[in-house]
Amino acid sequence: MKIHVKNHIDWVGRIDWELRNFHGMEYSTHRGSSYNAYVVREEKTVLIDTVWAPYDRQFVDNLDQEVGLANLDAVVMNHSEVDHSGSLPELMARRPDLPIYCTANGVKILKGLYHQDWNFVTVKTGDSLDVGNGKKLVFVEMRMLHWPDSMASYLTGDEVLFSNDAFGQHFASEFLFSDKVDPAELMAEALKYYANILTPFSALVVAKIKEVLALGLPIDLIAPSHGVIWRGDPTRIVLKYMEWAQDYQENQITILYDTMWDATRTMADRIAEGIHLEDPAVVVKLYNVGKTDKNDAISEVFKSRTVVAGSPTINHGISTAMAAILEEIEGLKFKNKKAAAFGAYGWSGESVAKLNGLLSKAGFTLVSEGIKCMWNPTAEDQARCMAIGREIAKANKAE
Ligand code: FEO
Repeated sequence: MKIHVKNHIDWVGRIDWELRNFHGMEYSTHRGSSYNAYVVREEKTVLIDTVWAPYDRQFVDNLDQEVGLANLDAVVMNHSEVDHSGSLPELMARRPDLPIYCTANGVKILKGLYHQDWNFVTVKTGDSLDVGNGKKLVFVEMRMLHWPDSMASYLTGDEVLFSNDAFGQHFASEFLFSDKVDPAELMAEALKYYANILTPFSALVVAKIKEVLALGLPIDLIAPSHGVIWRGDPTRIVLKYMEWAQDYQENQITILYDTMWDATRTMADRIAEGIHLEDPAVVVKLYNVGKTDKNDAISEVFKSRTVVAGSPTINHGISTAMAAILEEIEGLKFKNKKAAAFGAYGWSGESVAKLNGLLSKAGFTLVSEGIKCMWNPTAEDQARCMAIGREIAKANKAE
C-alpha cells in the first residue's frame, strides 16, 4: 500500500486503527494513530523513517513491492524512538549496506536500542543529501523536540518539511491530509499531543520555530510521523505551536478531584457553583480523576488558567489517582498557572496540605490556602466552598 503525497513522494507507513495506548500505558490514543514513513524517488530513492516493530515484516514487504528494496539508496532516520525505528532491524537484515542518515545522538540511540554497527552517516543542521533532479533533503536538528536525536528533513523543490513527531497527532485516518478530516477532531488530537508530550520543551519549540521561520523556506506541506499531513496553509499548525508554546491559556478553570463517598465531590460541585456565580463567563470543567482518562484531563489542565485539585485524606495522604496525575503535571512543567486545593476528611485531614505542597512543587501559584471539610460537608461547609469558589474566580481573572 502506498498513498501519493506530492510529485515523487509517497507515504508507505502504517495506519494503526486499533492502538489505544502509546508509550506503554502513558498516552491514550482514542482515535488510533499512524506511523508515517515516506519514500522520495528522484534520481536517488530515499526512505524517510520506518514503522513500529509489530508491523516490521509487513512494512518491509510492502516497501519491497512498492519501491523495491534493491532500489533504495538511503534511509533517513529523523528520530530513533521505537515507533519509527522499529522496522530498521528487518530492513537492515535485507539491505545491510543501506546508509542510515541521522544525528550523532541518533547513532548513539540506535546502537543502544539495536546493538548493531550499521552504516551510519552522521548529519547536523544544514547538512544535506542530494537526491538528484535539482532537489536535496536538508537536515535540521530538533534536539529535545522531543528526544536528543530528533531532527526534521526539508525537501527543496517540493517544499515538504518532514517534521517527524513535531506537528504530529495520534489520529488514524484513511485520508492522509488535514483538509480531508474533521478539523475539530484533528485540532483536539494535535493539542492533546502538544499538551501531553511537548509542553516541557516549550521554550525550545519557540526558539526552533523562530530559527526555521528565519530561513524563509517556502513550505507547501508539513509531513509529520503521526497522523495527517498539514496541507493548504500548513503554517497554521506552526503558528498554533507558537501559541501553545507560550504559556497557553484559555479562560478556563479545571477542577480535578477524587472522592470516596462523595464528600469531596460535593465540595467540588459547590466550588464550581461559587466560581460560576462570581464569573459566569469563565469555563468551569470538573473531572473525577479516578474515572477520567489522564491524558484528556491533562489537555484540560493545559488550556486552563487555574487548576483546583481535591482529594479526600487517605492514609494521611491523597488518593492514588490524584497522586498519579499530579506526578504527570509536575513533569510537564506548566508555567503561569494558578491553583487551589480542597478535600474532605474523617480524622487526620492531611490531604489539602499535601495537595498545596504538590501544586507548589509543580510550579503553580496558590491563590488560596485551600479548604477542608470533616465528614460530609454541612450547609455551612458548602457555603464556605462556594466562597472559596468566588475567591478562585476573582484570582483567575486577576493578572
Ligand atoms: Fe513518534 Fe518520539 O516517537
